[in-house]
Amino acid sequence: MRASEIMNAELPVVMSDAGPVEIAQEMLKRSASHVMVTNGEGKLIGLVSGFDLRRAVAESKNGLTAVDIMTPRSKLVVAFQDTPVDEVARILTEKQITQMPVVKDEVPVGYLNLSQVLKYTTEKAEKTKDELLHSRQAALLINSMREGVVVVDKDYCIRELNPAAEESSGFSAEALVGRQSKAYMAIDSPVRKVMENGEPLYNVEVQNGMGKVYLTNNVPIMDNGTVEGVLQTFSDITEVKQMHFQLLKTRDELEKAFALTLPNSRVEKKLKSTPEYRDIYNADTGMIEVTEVIEDGGYLHVVNALKVAADLNEKGMMSLLGVDKDTLVQALIFHDVGKSQPVLNVGQVVDPRKVFEQSELHALRSADIVETYYKKPQDVVQLIRYHHHKDEDLPDDFPSHLLPMLRLIRIIDGLSAGLTRRNARVGFRANGSRLTILENNGHPDFNRTVEVDLYTGRQLVYTEKKVDSAKREALN
Ligand SMILES: [Fe+2]
Ligand SMILES: [Fe+2]
Repeated sequence: MRASEIMNAELPVVMSDAGPVEIAQEMLKRSASHVMVTNGEGKLIGLVSGFDLRRAVAESKNGLTAVDIMTPRSKLVVAFQDTPVDEVARILTEKQITQMPVVKDEVPVGYLNLSQVLKYTTEKAEKTKDELLHSRQAALLINSMREGVVVVDKDYCIRELNPAAEESSGFSAEALVGRQSKAYMAIDSPVRKVMENGEPLYNVEVQNGMGKVYLTNNVPIMDNGTVEGVLQTFSDITEVKQMHFQLLKTRDELEKAFALTLPNSRVEKKLKSTPEYRDIYNADTGMIEVTEVIEDGGYLHVVNALKVAADLNEKGMMSLLGVDKDTLVQALIFHDVGKSQPVLNVGQVVDPRKVFEQSELHALRSADIVETYYKKPQDVVQLIRYHHHKDEDLPDDFPSHLLPMLRLIRIIDGLSAGLTRRNARVGFRANGSRLTILENNGHPDFNRTVEVDLYTGRQLVYTEKKVDSAKREALN
C-alpha cells in the first residue's frame, strides 16, 4: 500500500505570513496538531506544530508569523504519494515523529499521522494472520494501545492478548493464551458471529458477568478465503455508561441542554480529539511522567463537569441568585473548546511548564470561538474568557453579576479535572451561598475540603492535616 491511499487529504495549511491566531484556527478547524506552511506558489516551506505555536505565544513577541516559528522544509522528512506505507511506518517510528507531509513537486497533497498507520496495520491484520502475529511493528503498536486487543483462533482459543487486555481482564497472557473461551463461544457473542459469517462487526457493546461494559470491534482474520480467527479490540466504557445513565436519571434541563448541544456537532468531535494525560509529578525536578493517555479526555472532562453541575443542581445551588442554569451549562460545554494539547506518550518525561500551554490562553481562544462561530450570549463568552483567572486578576470591567457563576465554574472545572484525571471521588454540601467541596483521591496533595462563599469569593482550604485559612488555593 502507498502513502496516497491512506493519507489525509484535508490539509491544514497556512500561508507564510499567517499569524499565531490564524494558525491556531486552522489547527482547530482541521482538528490537527500541525499545520503546513506554503509560499505564494503553494509549495511547502515548513511545518508549525502545536508546540512551536505555544512556544511562540509564550515568548509573546509581537508580529510573529508562520515563517518565524515553523520548522523549515530543509529539516522536514516528507513522503511522496508512492512511498510505501511500511516505509512511512519505519520512518515515523525511527525518528519518533507523529506527522509527515506528503508532497508532489514540493506542493503538499496530504499528510500522514501515526493513527492512520495504526489503522493500516490493523486492517492489514484482517488479511493475514501471520502478518499480525509476526509483524514487530504491529506488535509494538498493539502493545502500546490503550484498547484491549485479543486474537481468538477458530477453536475459540485465545492466541494473543495485549497488556491492556491483561489489565482489563485481571489475568496474565500466560494464564489465558491457549485456553478456550466460553464467553467468545456464546451464541450472542460478536466474536462468534464474526467467526460464523466472516463479516466484521464494529461498535458492539458487550457486558461481562462482573457488570463491566465494553465497546468492541471484531474483525475476521482471513486466510485464503476462510475465517481463521477473530481479532477483537475493546475499550472499557463502564464508567462512561454509568455516568450517562446518571445523567439520564437526573432528567433535568442540564441533561437536555447537553444532549441538544453535543451530538453530531463539531464541538463533540473537537472535544473527543483533545487528549488529557494522567501523570506522576516529581517535586524535585519539576518534571512529570505521563502514565496514561486519555484520548477523549476533553469530552470526558465536559461530561464530568455537567455531571457535577447536575449534582449541584440537586443540592439547590442553581436556584441561588446570580446563577443562571442555561448560561452555566453553555459555559461548561464550551469552556475548553479552544484547548490545544501536546501529543505525549506513556512513559514520556516532560517539563509541564514547557509543553502545556498556559491555561489563560485556551480560555481566550475558547471565548473567541464561542463568540465568533457559535454566537453565544456575552455572559457565556465572558465566563469562558476568564475561567482561569483568579478573582484578583480579573479586569476592572468584569461584570460583577457574573462573579458567583465564575467561581462556581472554577470549582466545577477543578472537580471535573479530579474526576477525569485523578479518579477522584467528590462530594458537596451547600449552605446558602456557601459551598463545601470534598475531594478524595489517590493523590494526597489533592485530598481536601474547600469551603467557598460564591458571593464574596472567601475561601477556606482544609487539607488532611491542618486547617489553613490563610492559604488560598486555586482549585484546578
Ligand atoms: Fe480550561
Ligand atoms: Fe476545563
